[in-house]
Amino acid sequence: MKLTINEQVHELNAPDEMPILWALRDVLGMTGTKFGCGKSLCGACTVMLDGNPIRSCVTPVKAAENKSITTIEAISEQKTGQAIQNAWIENNVPQCGYCQSGQIVSATALLNANPQPNDEDINNAMSGNICRCGTYNRIRDAIKQAANKLEADHEG
Ligand code: FES
Ligand code: FES
Repeated sequence: MKLTINEQVHELNAPDEMPILWALRDVLGMTGTKFGCGKSLCGACTVMLDGNPIRSCVTPVKAAENKSITTIEAISEQKTGQAIQNAWIENNVPQCGYCQSGQIVSATALLNANPQPNDEDINNAMSGNICRCGTYNRIRDAIKQAANKLEADHEG
């Protein structure tokens, strides 16, 4: 099977039903994407599949054939992802950090779909990403800051 991850094609010798998360971490050694619950409940394992945030712990590799996976390792190669990462740093968002790669991927997908989300949009888009350290307020601030920065860059 061939998987396209961060614009590189990887040959994979894995069963069709292997979750993408296992392929990333255990087969390919890409450990930026985290294992939390393994049951689509926490969002730690979020990656993009053709630009949409998905839970890689419950999505089989077969579902990614002929599609494009983007992981945290390459998120800053997108303009939106770079703005999100910069805003995360400026707002000191992470505490323990464990949930944060999933948070950043979800936030990037949100701004790609909705460049100026309000609080409700942010809550809806981010509600599947759990943070046991309670960084939610800083996440919201960072998303708004990144949105404003991208808008200013666009207008400038
Ligand atoms: S590890 Fe996938 S949602 Fe928790
Ligand atoms: S920063 Fe610790 S779980 Fe979110």
